[in-house]
Amino acid sequence: MINQKMQDGINGQIQAEMYSANLYLAMSAYCENKNLKGFANWLRVQYQEETFHATYLLDYLLSRGGKVRLQTIDAPPAEFGSMSDLFQKVLEHEQMVTGLINGLYEVAVAEKDVATQIFLQWYVNEQVEEEANVSEILDKLVLLGEKPSELLYLDKELALRVFVLPAVANTTKTKQA
Ligand code: FEO
Repeated sequence: MINQKMQDGINGQIQAEMYSANLYLAMSAYCENKNLKGFANWLRVQYQEETFHATYLLDYLLSRGGKVRLQTIDAPPAEFGSMSDLFQKVLEHEQMVTGLINGLYEVAVAEKDVATQIFLQWYVNEQVEEEANVSEILDKLVLLGEKPSELLYLDKELALRVFVLPAVANTTKTKQA
């Protein structure tokens, strides 16, 4: 059975992942309004990934006999500026989430909760990948500039992203349902 401190930390992280999902959904809608459908698609897939991050934590908490306490999710902004501004915000947000995951991992170490340490390693790796992906897009935006032709080039590339349920989902209740 998971202890109270670890349980509180995981519930807090579920809330953070659900906020991330809403933030990216709001960003996706913002891009859709600007007819940048590829950018909108990339962010919609990101929304789906964040939703998985939240439910994967939730299922883990349940599997350890923990109590899920969903909390209030703050409303995300609705305006995000240029595409460079938007992706700069995504990068900063992901860096903040990396800090949260690292903090949660430190709680697991302090509480000598080995199972949670192993579980959280997936999130540690995921954050490395997320920050790298976002940095790559931001670098391209800076390199190419934001003239319509360059934006449309990148928009076509981002339209190709599809959501793939992580292989790790095979071990969760989500998959079995
Ligand atoms: Fe769930 Fe983008 O971190």
